[in-house]
Amino acid sequence: MTKYLITSALPYVNGVKHLGNLAGSLLPADIHARFRRQTGHEVLFLCGTDEHGTPVELAARAEGIPVSDYCARQHAVQADIYRCFGLSFDHFSRTSGATNRLLTQKIFQRLDAAGHIEARTIRQAYSPTDARFLPDRYIVGTCPYCGSTNARGDQCESCTRVLDPENLLSPRSAISGAADIEFRETRHLFLKLSDFDRKLRRWIETHPEWPLLVRSIALKWLDEGLRDRCITRDLTWGVPVPRPGFEDKVFYVWFDAPIGYIAAALEWSEAAPERDWRAWWESGDDIRYVQFLAKDNVPFHTISFPATILGSGLPLKLPDTIKGFNWLTFDGGKFSTSGQHGIFTDTALTLLPADTWRWWLAANAPESADTDFTVERFVDGVNKDLADTFGNLVNRCLVFAVATFGATVPDSGETGSTEHKLAADLGACLRRLRGHHEALALRKAAEEVRVVWRLANAYFTKAAPWSVVKYDRDQAAAIVRTGINLVRVAALAAWPFIPTASAEVLRSLGEDVQVVPWVEDGERALASIPAGRSFRVPSLLFRKISTADVTPIVACRPPA
Ligand code: MF3
Ligand code: ZN
Repeated sequence: MTKYLITSALPYVNGVKHLGNLAGSLLPADIHARFRRQTGHEVLFLCGTDEHGTPVELAARAEGIPVSDYCARQHAVQADIYRCFGLSFDHFSRTSGATNRLLTQKIFQRLDAAGHIEARTIRQAYSPTDARFLPDRYIVGTCPYCGSTNARGDQCESCTRVLDPENLLSPRSAISGAADIEFRETRHLFLKLSDFDRKLRRWIETHPEWPLLVRSIALKWLDEGLRDRCITRDLTWGVPVPRPGFEDKVFYVWFDAPIGYIAAALEWSEAAPERDWRAWWESGDDIRYVQFLAKDNVPFHTISFPATILGSGLPLKLPDTIKGFNWLTFDGGKFSTSGQHGIFTDTALTLLPADTWRWWLAANAPESADTDFTVERFVDGVNKDLADTFGNLVNRCLVFAVATFGATVPDSGETGSTEHKLAADLGACLRRLRGHHEALALRKAAEEVRVVWRLANAYFTKAAPWSVVKYDRDQAAAIVRTGINLVRVAALAAWPFIPTASAEVLRSLGEDVQVVPWVEDGERALASIPAGRSFRVPSLLFRKISTADVTPIVACRPPA
Protein backbone atom coordinates (compact mmCIF):
# COMPACT_ATOMS: atom_id res chain seq x y z
CA MET A 1 0.00 0.00 0.00
CA THR A 2 1.25 3.48 -0.88
CA LYS A 3 2.82 5.41 1.98
CA TYR A 4 2.32 9.15 2.38
CA LEU A 5 4.99 11.64 3.24
CA ILE A 6 3.16 14.85 4.11
CA THR A 7 4.60 18.25 4.96
CA SER A 8 3.10 21.61 5.81
CA ALA A 9 5.08 24.80 5.15
CA LEU A 10 7.14 25.55 8.24
CA PRO A 11 5.67 28.58 10.04
CA TYR A 12 8.09 31.36 10.93
CA VAL A 13 8.94 31.15 14.58
CA ASN A 14 8.42 34.85 15.24
CA GLY A 15 5.03 35.47 16.76
CA VAL A 16 1.93 33.39 17.14
CA LYS A 17 0.38 32.65 13.75
CA HIS A 18 -3.06 33.85 12.68
CA LEU A 19 -5.94 31.80 11.33
CA GLY A 20 -4.75 32.42 7.78
CA ASN A 21 -1.56 30.46 8.45
CA LEU A 22 -3.62 27.63 9.86
CA ALA A 23 -6.06 27.58 6.94
CA GLY A 24 -3.43 27.81 4.21
CA SER A 25 -1.22 24.83 5.02
CA LEU A 26 -1.15 23.42 8.57
CA LEU A 27 -4.79 22.39 8.81
CA PRO A 28 -5.25 20.99 5.28
CA ALA A 29 -2.06 18.97 5.74
CA ASP A 30 -3.39 17.56 9.01
CA ILE A 31 -6.74 16.68 7.48
CA HIS A 32 -5.02 14.84 4.66
CA ALA A 33 -2.68 13.03 7.04
CA ARG A 34 -5.63 11.91 9.15
CA PHE A 35 -7.58 10.76 6.10
CA ARG A 36 -4.65 8.70 4.83
CA ARG A 37 -4.10 7.12 8.24
CA GLN A 38 -7.81 6.44 8.47
CA THR A 39 -7.78 4.60 5.16
CA GLY A 40 -4.94 2.40 6.38
CA HIS A 41 -1.92 4.10 4.81
CA GLU A 42 1.33 4.59 6.59
CA VAL A 43 1.90 8.32 7.01
CA LEU A 44 4.84 10.47 8.01
CA PHE A 45 3.56 13.97 8.71
CA LEU A 46 6.28 16.54 9.33
CA CYS A 47 6.43 20.20 10.21
CA GLY A 48 8.45 22.56 12.38
CA THR A 49 9.30 26.18 12.95
CA ASP A 50 11.28 28.20 10.43
CA GLU A 51 13.74 29.94 12.74
CA HIS A 52 16.18 31.95 10.65
CA GLY A 53 15.82 35.21 8.79
CA THR A 54 15.90 38.85 9.74
CA PRO A 55 12.32 39.16 11.10
CA VAL A 56 13.18 36.57 13.75
CA GLU A 57 16.33 38.42 14.73
CA LEU A 58 14.48 41.70 14.91
CA ALA A 59 11.72 40.20 17.07
CA ALA A 60 14.30 38.87 19.53
CA ARG A 61 16.06 42.20 19.57
CA ALA A 62 12.79 43.98 20.30
CA GLU A 63 12.42 41.79 23.37
CA GLY A 64 16.03 42.23 24.33
CA ILE A 65 16.81 38.53 24.54
CA PRO A 66 19.24 36.30 22.65
CA VAL A 67 17.73 35.08 19.43
CA SER A 68 18.30 31.43 20.35
CA ASP A 69 16.32 31.89 23.60
CA TYR A 70 13.61 33.68 21.72
CA CYS A 71 13.35 30.86 19.19
CA ALA A 72 13.27 28.15 21.84
CA ARG A 73 10.45 29.90 23.65
CA GLN A 74 8.40 30.72 20.56
CA HIS A 75 8.86 27.24 19.17
CA ALA A 76 7.36 25.83 22.36
CA VAL A 77 4.49 28.32 22.22
CA GLN A 78 3.61 27.36 18.66
CA ALA A 79 4.05 23.63 19.27
CA ASP A 80 1.60 23.86 22.13
CA ILE A 81 -0.97 25.75 20.10
CA TYR A 82 -0.79 23.21 17.28
CA ARG A 83 -1.20 20.37 19.74
CA CYS A 84 -4.34 22.07 21.02
CA PHE A 85 -5.58 22.37 17.45
CA GLY A 86 -5.15 18.62 17.06
CA LEU A 87 -2.43 18.87 14.42
CA SER A 88 -1.11 15.34 14.35
CA PHE A 89 2.53 15.84 13.36
CA ASP A 90 4.77 12.83 13.69
CA HIS A 91 7.49 15.34 14.44
CA PHE A 92 7.58 19.12 14.85
CA SER A 93 11.14 20.22 14.23
CA ARG A 94 13.22 23.41 14.31
CA THR A 95 15.30 24.66 11.41
CA SER A 96 17.90 26.13 13.77
CA GLY A 97 18.70 22.68 15.15
CA ALA A 98 21.95 20.82 14.60
CA THR A 99 20.39 18.30 12.23
CA ASN A 100 19.27 20.94 9.80
CA ARG A 101 22.54 22.83 10.10
CA LEU A 102 24.61 19.78 9.18
CA LEU A 103 22.30 18.67 6.39
CA THR A 104 22.17 22.18 4.90
CA GLN A 105 25.95 22.40 4.93
CA LYS A 106 26.28 18.99 3.35
CA ILE A 107 23.80 19.82 0.59
CA PHE A 108 25.58 23.11 -0.04
CA GLN A 109 28.96 21.38 -0.33
CA ARG A 110 27.56 18.96 -2.86
CA LEU A 111 26.05 21.80 -4.89
CA ASP A 112 29.36 23.61 -4.74
CA ALA A 113 31.35 20.53 -5.78
CA ALA A 114 28.98 20.03 -8.70
CA GLY A 115 29.61 23.59 -9.90
CA HIS A 116 26.18 25.02 -9.13
CA ILE A 117 27.50 27.73 -6.79
CA GLU A 118 29.20 30.93 -7.87
CA ALA A 119 30.84 33.65 -5.74
CA ARG A 120 30.07 37.22 -6.79
CA THR A 121 30.75 40.65 -5.43
CA ILE A 122 27.61 42.67 -4.79
CA ARG A 123 26.77 46.00 -3.18
CA GLN A 124 24.94 45.83 0.12
CA ALA A 125 23.58 48.45 2.48
CA TYR A 126 26.03 49.10 5.32
CA SER A 127 25.65 51.25 8.41
CA PRO A 128 28.85 52.63 9.98
CA THR A 129 26.85 53.52 13.11
CA ASP A 130 25.82 49.90 13.58
CA ALA A 131 29.13 48.66 12.14
CA ARG A 132 27.35 46.05 10.06
CA PHE A 133 25.61 45.22 6.82
CA LEU A 134 21.84 45.64 6.79
CA PRO A 135 20.37 42.81 4.74
CA ASP A 136 16.66 42.34 3.94
CA ARG A 137 14.51 43.80 6.70
CA TYR A 138 17.36 45.46 8.58
CA ILE A 139 16.93 48.42 6.30
CA VAL A 140 13.74 50.48 6.06
CA GLY A 141 12.81 53.60 4.18
CA THR A 142 10.26 55.31 1.99
CA CYS A 143 8.73 53.25 -0.80
CA PRO A 144 9.50 54.84 -4.18
CA TYR A 145 6.17 53.59 -5.54
CA CYS A 146 3.55 54.37 -2.89
CA GLY A 147 5.38 56.67 -0.50
CA SER A 148 4.87 54.49 2.56
CA THR A 149 7.56 55.45 5.06
CA ASN A 150 7.88 51.94 6.48
CA ALA A 151 8.95 49.98 3.43
CA ARG A 152 11.53 47.28 4.09
CA GLY A 153 14.65 46.50 2.11
CA ASP A 154 13.07 43.50 0.44
CA GLN A 155 9.44 44.51 0.10
CA CYS A 156 6.91 47.27 0.74
CA GLU A 157 4.10 45.90 2.91
CA SER A 158 1.74 48.69 1.85
CA CYS A 159 1.81 48.15 -1.88
CA THR A 160 3.41 44.64 -1.75
CA ARG A 161 6.03 45.55 -4.39
CA VAL A 162 9.31 43.68 -4.19
CA LEU A 163 12.13 46.14 -3.60
CA ASP A 164 15.86 46.38 -3.75
CA PRO A 165 17.40 48.21 -0.79
CA GLU A 166 18.88 50.64 -3.29
CA ASN A 167 15.34 51.67 -4.34
CA LEU A 168 14.43 52.94 -0.88
CA LEU A 169 14.22 56.70 -0.40
CA SER A 170 15.67 58.04 2.86
CA PRO A 171 16.93 54.62 3.92
CA ARG A 172 17.67 54.01 7.59
CA SER A 173 18.74 51.18 9.84
CA ALA A 174 15.95 49.18 11.45
CA ILE A 175 18.23 48.63 14.43
CA SER A 176 19.41 52.09 15.34
CA GLY A 177 17.45 54.30 13.00
CA ALA A 178 20.81 55.60 11.72
CA ALA A 179 20.53 57.25 8.32
CA ASP A 180 24.23 57.04 7.44
CA ILE A 181 23.57 54.26 4.97
CA GLU A 182 26.19 53.51 2.38
CA PHE A 183 26.50 50.70 -0.11
CA ARG A 184 29.60 48.59 0.27
CA GLU A 185 30.94 45.69 -1.71
CA THR A 186 30.69 42.23 -0.19
CA ARG A 187 31.24 38.71 -1.58
CA HIS A 188 28.26 36.39 -1.73
CA LEU A 189 27.36 32.97 -3.06
CA PHE A 190 24.75 32.42 -5.73
CA LEU A 191 22.86 29.27 -6.61
CA LYS A 192 22.83 29.01 -10.39
CA LEU A 193 19.16 28.33 -10.86
CA SER A 194 19.52 28.58 -14.62
CA ASP A 195 21.38 25.23 -14.55
CA PHE A 196 18.06 23.60 -13.69
CA ASP A 197 15.72 25.27 -16.12
CA ARG A 198 15.16 22.24 -18.38
CA LYS A 199 14.92 19.73 -15.57
CA LEU A 200 12.45 21.82 -13.62
CA ARG A 201 10.32 22.49 -16.65
CA ARG A 202 10.20 18.80 -17.49
CA TRP A 203 9.33 17.94 -13.89
CA ILE A 204 6.50 20.47 -13.76
CA GLU A 205 5.21 19.45 -17.17
CA THR A 206 4.92 15.85 -16.03
CA HIS A 207 2.43 17.02 -13.39
CA PRO A 208 -0.58 18.40 -15.25
CA GLU A 209 -2.70 17.25 -12.33
CA TRP A 210 -1.27 19.85 -9.92
CA PRO A 211 -3.55 22.70 -8.92
CA LEU A 212 -3.57 25.42 -11.55
CA LEU A 213 -2.49 27.96 -8.95
CA VAL A 214 0.75 26.08 -8.34
CA ARG A 215 1.52 25.28 -11.98
CA SER A 216 0.87 28.76 -13.22
CA ILE A 217 3.12 30.41 -10.64
CA ALA A 218 5.89 27.89 -11.33
CA LEU A 219 5.64 28.19 -15.10
CA LYS A 220 5.57 31.97 -14.89
CA TRP A 221 8.90 31.88 -13.09
CA LEU A 222 10.35 29.57 -15.70
CA ASP A 223 8.97 31.63 -18.57
CA GLU A 224 10.43 34.82 -17.16
CA GLY A 225 13.83 33.13 -17.08
CA LEU A 226 15.45 31.86 -13.91
CA ARG A 227 17.79 34.32 -12.25
CA ASP A 228 20.60 33.08 -10.05
CA ARG A 229 19.74 33.53 -6.36
CA CYS A 230 21.95 34.90 -3.66
CA ILE A 231 21.89 32.24 -0.94
CA THR A 232 24.13 33.90 1.67
CA ARG A 233 23.73 36.86 4.03
CA ASP A 234 25.96 39.04 6.20
CA LEU A 235 24.35 37.90 9.43
CA THR A 236 25.36 35.86 12.42
CA TRP A 237 22.03 34.09 13.08
CA GLY A 238 21.63 31.25 10.60
CA VAL A 239 23.44 28.23 9.23
CA PRO A 240 27.16 29.09 8.88
CA VAL A 241 28.51 28.86 5.34
CA PRO A 242 31.18 26.13 5.19
CA ARG A 243 33.46 27.67 2.60
CA PRO A 244 36.77 29.47 3.10
CA GLY A 245 36.32 33.22 2.87
CA PHE A 246 32.66 33.05 3.92
CA GLU A 247 33.11 32.14 7.58
CA ASP A 248 31.35 35.30 8.74
CA LYS A 249 28.20 34.65 6.69
CA VAL A 250 25.15 32.46 6.98
CA PHE A 251 22.76 30.98 4.46
CA TYR A 252 19.68 32.88 3.40
CA VAL A 253 16.67 31.59 5.34
CA TRP A 254 14.95 30.25 2.24
CA PHE A 255 17.99 28.09 1.49
CA ASP A 256 17.94 26.18 4.76
CA ALA A 257 14.21 26.30 5.62
CA PRO A 258 12.90 23.67 3.18
CA ILE A 259 15.86 21.42 3.95
CA GLY A 260 14.19 21.45 7.37
CA TYR A 261 11.58 19.03 6.00
CA ILE A 262 14.27 16.41 5.50
CA ALA A 263 16.00 17.27 8.76
CA ALA A 264 12.66 16.72 10.50
CA ALA A 265 12.56 13.20 9.11
CA LEU A 266 16.12 12.58 10.26
CA GLU A 267 15.27 13.68 13.80
CA TRP A 268 12.12 11.60 13.80
CA SER A 269 14.21 8.64 12.65
CA GLU A 270 16.87 9.14 15.33
CA ALA A 271 14.27 9.03 18.08
CA ALA A 272 13.54 5.30 17.69
CA PRO A 273 15.58 2.43 16.27
CA GLU A 274 12.82 1.01 14.07
CA ARG A 275 12.37 4.28 12.20
CA ASP A 276 14.25 4.88 8.98
CA TRP A 277 14.07 8.27 7.32
CA ARG A 278 15.61 6.89 4.15
CA ALA A 279 12.63 4.64 3.65
CA TRP A 280 10.64 7.86 3.21
CA TRP A 281 12.96 10.26 1.46
CA GLU A 282 15.01 7.94 -0.69
CA SER A 283 12.34 5.54 -1.76
CA GLY A 284 10.55 5.19 -5.04
CA ASP A 285 7.02 4.75 -6.21
CA ASP A 286 5.57 3.30 -3.04
CA ILE A 287 5.91 6.70 -1.35
CA ARG A 288 3.88 9.72 -2.36
CA TYR A 289 5.15 13.04 -1.09
CA VAL A 290 2.46 15.73 -0.72
CA GLN A 291 3.33 19.31 0.21
CA PHE A 292 0.85 21.85 1.55
CA LEU A 293 1.63 25.55 1.33
CA ALA A 294 0.29 29.03 0.63
CA LYS A 295 0.73 30.66 -2.75
CA ASP A 296 3.59 32.97 -1.75
CA ASN A 297 5.61 29.84 -0.99
CA VAL A 298 5.10 28.29 -4.42
CA PRO A 299 8.27 29.60 -6.12
CA PHE A 300 10.46 28.26 -3.34
CA HIS A 301 8.85 24.83 -3.47
CA THR A 302 8.65 24.49 -7.25
CA ILE A 303 11.92 26.19 -8.23
CA SER A 304 14.62 26.88 -5.67
CA PHE A 305 14.16 23.91 -3.32
CA PRO A 306 13.80 21.34 -6.11
CA ALA A 307 16.88 22.88 -7.79
CA THR A 308 18.76 22.51 -4.50
CA ILE A 309 17.78 18.85 -4.27
CA LEU A 310 18.47 18.07 -7.92
CA GLY A 311 21.81 19.86 -7.84
CA SER A 312 22.94 18.06 -4.71
CA GLY A 313 22.81 14.77 -6.58
CA LEU A 314 21.40 13.12 -3.46
CA PRO A 315 18.67 10.57 -4.13
CA LEU A 316 16.05 12.61 -2.30
CA LYS A 317 12.40 12.71 -3.26
CA LEU A 318 10.80 15.69 -4.93
CA PRO A 319 7.14 16.23 -4.09
CA ASP A 320 4.63 14.24 -6.09
CA THR A 321 1.90 16.77 -5.39
CA ILE A 322 1.95 20.37 -4.25
CA LYS A 323 -1.29 21.69 -2.87
CA GLY A 324 -1.18 25.48 -2.85
CA PHE A 325 -3.68 27.78 -1.19
CA ASN A 326 -4.87 31.30 -1.77
CA TRP A 327 -5.30 33.76 1.10
CA LEU A 328 -7.75 33.81 3.90
CA THR A 329 -8.67 37.45 4.29
CA PHE A 330 -10.22 39.02 7.36
CA ASP A 331 -13.15 41.35 6.90
CA GLY A 332 -12.01 42.06 3.38
CA GLY A 333 -8.42 42.90 4.36
CA LYS A 334 -5.17 41.04 4.78
CA PHE A 335 -4.61 39.08 7.97
CA SER A 336 -1.54 40.74 9.36
CA THR A 337 0.67 39.91 12.30
CA SER A 338 2.41 43.26 12.35
CA GLY A 339 -0.80 45.19 11.73
CA GLN A 340 -2.74 43.27 14.41
CA HIS A 341 -5.49 42.55 11.95
CA GLY A 342 -7.38 39.28 12.30
CA ILE A 343 -7.73 36.46 14.79
CA PHE A 344 -4.65 34.70 16.10
CA THR A 345 -4.43 31.01 16.83
CA ASP A 346 -3.87 31.42 20.58
CA THR A 347 -6.84 33.75 20.94
CA ALA A 348 -8.99 31.47 18.81
CA LEU A 349 -8.42 28.62 21.25
CA THR A 350 -9.52 30.72 24.19
CA LEU A 351 -12.74 31.63 22.39
CA LEU A 352 -14.03 28.32 21.04
CA PRO A 353 -13.08 24.66 20.76
CA ALA A 354 -10.42 23.88 18.15
CA ASP A 355 -12.87 21.79 16.13
CA THR A 356 -15.11 24.78 15.57
CA TRP A 357 -12.26 26.64 13.87
CA ARG A 358 -11.03 23.56 12.07
CA TRP A 359 -14.42 22.91 10.57
CA TRP A 360 -15.07 26.37 9.25
CA LEU A 361 -11.56 26.93 7.94
CA ALA A 362 -11.57 23.61 6.11
CA ALA A 363 -15.11 23.88 4.80
CA ASN A 364 -14.25 27.35 3.48
CA ALA A 365 -10.66 26.67 2.53
CA PRO A 366 -9.16 29.29 0.19
CA GLU A 367 -8.68 26.76 -2.59
CA SER A 368 -9.69 28.23 -5.92
CA ALA A 369 -9.86 31.82 -4.66
CA ASP A 370 -9.27 33.86 -1.53
CA THR A 371 -11.79 33.29 1.26
CA ASP A 372 -13.01 36.16 3.37
CA PHE A 373 -13.43 35.40 7.04
CA THR A 374 -16.15 37.47 8.61
CA VAL A 375 -17.46 36.85 12.09
CA GLU A 376 -21.01 36.63 10.74
CA ARG A 377 -20.21 34.01 8.10
CA PHE A 378 -18.22 32.03 10.61
CA VAL A 379 -20.94 32.05 13.28
CA ASP A 380 -23.62 31.22 10.78
CA GLY A 381 -21.61 28.40 9.20
CA VAL A 382 -20.59 26.64 12.38
CA ASN A 383 -24.04 26.92 13.92
CA LYS A 384 -25.70 25.39 10.88
CA ASP A 385 -23.20 22.61 10.36
CA LEU A 386 -21.95 21.73 13.80
CA ALA A 387 -24.76 22.60 16.19
CA ASP A 388 -27.86 22.15 14.00
CA THR A 389 -26.72 19.26 11.85
CA PHE A 390 -24.00 17.10 13.39
CA GLY A 391 -24.59 17.94 17.05
CA ASN A 392 -28.32 17.68 16.63
CA LEU A 393 -28.08 14.28 14.95
CA VAL A 394 -25.97 12.84 17.74
CA ASN A 395 -28.12 14.28 20.44
CA ARG A 396 -31.59 13.47 19.16
CA CYS A 397 -30.65 9.90 18.22
CA LEU A 398 -28.91 8.99 21.41
CA VAL A 399 -31.25 10.85 23.77
CA PHE A 400 -34.27 9.16 22.22
CA ALA A 401 -32.55 5.77 22.28
CA VAL A 402 -31.71 6.02 25.96
CA ALA A 403 -35.15 7.32 26.90
CA THR A 404 -36.93 4.54 25.03
CA PHE A 405 -34.69 1.49 25.25
CA GLY A 406 -32.12 2.36 27.90
CA ALA A 407 -28.40 2.81 27.41
CA THR A 408 -27.78 -0.34 25.40
CA VAL A 409 -28.27 -0.84 21.68
CA PRO A 410 -31.67 -2.57 21.27
CA ASP A 411 -31.69 -5.85 19.36
CA SER A 412 -35.25 -6.46 18.27
CA GLY A 413 -36.85 -5.64 14.93
CA GLU A 414 -35.67 -5.98 11.35
CA THR A 415 -34.43 -3.33 8.95
CA GLY A 416 -36.15 -3.13 5.58
CA SER A 417 -36.11 -1.46 2.20
CA THR A 418 -35.75 2.05 3.62
CA GLU A 419 -32.55 1.03 5.33
CA HIS A 420 -31.25 -0.74 2.21
CA LYS A 421 -31.79 2.42 0.23
CA LEU A 422 -30.12 4.42 3.00
CA ALA A 423 -27.15 2.05 2.96
CA ALA A 424 -26.76 2.45 -0.80
CA ASP A 425 -26.90 6.25 -0.57
CA LEU A 426 -24.49 6.28 2.31
CA GLY A 427 -22.01 4.04 0.50
CA ALA A 428 -22.08 6.26 -2.58
CA CYS A 429 -21.58 9.30 -0.44
CA LEU A 430 -18.61 7.82 1.42
CA ARG A 431 -16.98 6.80 -1.85
CA ARG A 432 -17.37 10.34 -3.13
CA LEU A 433 -15.88 11.61 0.12
CA ARG A 434 -12.83 9.42 -0.37
CA GLY A 435 -12.48 10.71 -3.92
CA HIS A 436 -12.50 14.32 -2.74
CA HIS A 437 -9.88 13.62 -0.09
CA GLU A 438 -7.72 11.83 -2.63
CA ALA A 439 -8.04 14.82 -4.95
CA LEU A 440 -7.10 17.11 -2.03
CA ALA A 441 -10.40 18.91 -2.59
CA LEU A 442 -11.01 20.13 0.92
CA ARG A 443 -14.19 22.10 0.44
CA LYS A 444 -15.81 19.31 -1.54
CA ALA A 445 -14.81 16.81 1.11
CA ALA A 446 -16.37 18.97 3.81
CA GLU A 447 -19.52 19.32 1.73
CA GLU A 448 -19.69 15.54 1.39
CA VAL A 449 -19.40 15.19 5.16
CA ARG A 450 -22.39 17.53 5.42
CA VAL A 451 -24.23 15.24 3.01
CA VAL A 452 -23.59 12.27 5.32
CA TRP A 453 -24.91 14.25 8.27
CA ARG A 454 -28.00 15.38 6.35
CA LEU A 455 -28.68 11.90 5.09
CA ALA A 456 -28.61 10.63 8.65
CA ASN A 457 -30.84 13.39 9.98
CA ALA A 458 -33.29 12.96 7.12
CA TYR A 459 -33.54 9.22 7.76
CA PHE A 460 -34.19 9.68 11.45
CA THR A 461 -36.80 12.36 10.85
CA LYS A 462 -38.61 10.33 8.22
CA ALA A 463 -38.44 7.06 10.11
CA ALA A 464 -39.84 8.90 13.17
CA PRO A 465 -39.21 6.21 15.80
CA TRP A 466 -41.07 8.35 18.37
CA SER A 467 -44.29 7.71 16.43
CA VAL A 468 -43.52 4.13 15.44
CA VAL A 469 -42.82 3.09 19.02
CA LYS A 470 -46.45 3.71 19.89
CA TYR A 471 -47.61 0.80 17.74
CA ASP A 472 -44.50 -1.26 16.89
CA ARG A 473 -41.75 -1.32 19.48
CA ASP A 474 -39.60 -3.78 17.51
CA GLN A 475 -39.69 -1.61 14.44
CA ALA A 476 -38.74 1.43 16.52
CA ALA A 477 -35.83 -0.56 17.96
CA ALA A 478 -34.55 -1.32 14.46
CA ILE A 479 -34.73 2.38 13.58
CA VAL A 480 -32.88 3.35 16.73
CA ARG A 481 -30.21 0.76 16.06
CA THR A 482 -29.78 2.15 12.56
CA GLY A 483 -29.70 5.67 14.01
CA ILE A 484 -26.94 4.79 16.45
CA ASN A 485 -24.90 3.32 13.62
CA LEU A 486 -25.55 6.45 11.59
CA VAL A 487 -24.15 8.52 14.43
CA ARG A 488 -21.03 6.40 14.29
CA VAL A 489 -20.65 6.86 10.52
CA ALA A 490 -21.28 10.60 10.87
CA ALA A 491 -18.41 10.78 13.35
CA LEU A 492 -16.10 8.60 11.24
CA ALA A 493 -16.63 10.68 8.15
CA ALA A 494 -15.99 13.88 10.07
CA TRP A 495 -12.96 12.67 12.01
CA PRO A 496 -10.23 14.23 9.84
CA PHE A 497 -11.98 17.60 10.19
CA ILE A 498 -13.19 17.59 13.79
CA PRO A 499 -11.13 14.89 15.50
CA THR A 500 -11.89 15.84 19.09
CA ALA A 501 -15.67 15.89 18.77
CA SER A 502 -15.67 12.80 16.57
CA ALA A 503 -13.54 10.86 19.03
CA GLU A 504 -15.84 11.94 21.85
CA VAL A 505 -18.87 10.62 19.97
CA LEU A 506 -17.10 7.36 19.19
CA ARG A 507 -16.05 6.93 22.81
CA SER A 508 -19.62 7.46 23.89
CA LEU A 509 -20.53 4.57 21.56
CA GLY A 510 -17.92 2.35 23.14
CA GLU A 511 -15.25 2.81 20.46
CA ASP A 512 -12.06 4.21 21.86
CA VAL A 513 -9.44 4.31 19.13
CA GLN A 514 -6.46 6.46 18.20
CA VAL A 515 -7.06 6.28 14.48
CA VAL A 516 -10.68 5.77 13.57
CA PRO A 517 -11.43 3.26 10.82
CA TRP A 518 -12.75 4.14 7.40
CA VAL A 519 -16.09 2.79 6.15
CA GLU A 520 -17.45 2.63 2.67
CA ASP A 521 -19.80 -0.32 2.55
CA GLY A 522 -23.16 1.15 3.54
CA GLU A 523 -24.75 -2.11 4.71
CA ARG A 524 -21.79 -2.99 6.87
CA ALA A 525 -21.57 0.55 8.21
CA LEU A 526 -25.19 0.40 9.38
CA ALA A 527 -24.71 -2.92 11.13
CA SER A 528 -21.40 -2.19 12.75
CA ILE A 529 -22.41 -1.62 16.37
CA PRO A 530 -23.75 -4.84 17.82
CA ALA A 531 -27.03 -5.00 19.70
CA GLY A 532 -26.49 -5.15 23.44
CA ARG A 533 -23.55 -2.76 23.50
CA SER A 534 -23.88 -0.04 26.08
CA PHE A 535 -23.41 3.59 25.18
CA ARG A 536 -23.98 7.02 26.65
CA VAL A 537 -25.08 10.41 25.40
CA PRO A 538 -21.99 12.60 25.05
CA SER A 539 -22.03 16.00 26.68
CA LEU A 540 -23.04 18.87 24.44
CA LEU A 541 -20.68 18.76 21.43
CA PHE A 542 -21.21 22.19 19.92
CA ARG A 543 -23.24 24.87 21.62
CA LYS A 544 -24.84 27.54 19.45
CA ILE A 545 -22.60 30.55 19.28
CA SER A 546 -23.24 34.19 18.51
CA THR A 547 -21.08 36.96 17.12
CA ALA A 548 -20.50 38.06 20.71
CA ASP A 549 -18.48 34.89 21.25
CA VAL A 550 -15.95 35.98 18.67
CA THR A 551 -15.99 39.73 18.24
CA PRO A 552 -14.77 41.37 21.44
CA ILE A 553 -11.31 39.89 21.53
CA VAL A 554 -10.44 40.33 17.89
CA ALA A 555 -9.03 43.79 18.15
CA CYS A 556 -7.19 43.71 21.45
CA ARG A 557 -3.97 41.93 20.83
CA PRO A 558 -0.54 43.31 21.60
CA PRO A 559 1.81 43.47 18.64
CA ALA A 560 3.72 40.25 18.01
N1 MF3 B 1 8.26 30.24 6.92
C1 MF3 B 1 7.75 30.32 5.58
C2 MF3 B 1 6.44 31.09 5.55
O1 MF3 B 1 5.78 31.12 6.56
C3 MF3 B 1 7.53 28.96 4.99
C4 MF3 B 1 8.76 28.12 4.94
S1 MF3 B 1 8.40 26.68 4.16
C5 MF3 B 1 9.87 25.92 4.02
O2 MF3 B 1 6.10 31.64 4.53
F1 MF3 B 1 9.82 25.09 3.08
F2 MF3 B 1 10.79 26.75 3.77
F3 MF3 B 1 10.14 25.37 5.11
ZN1 ZN C 1 4.94 50.80 -1.52
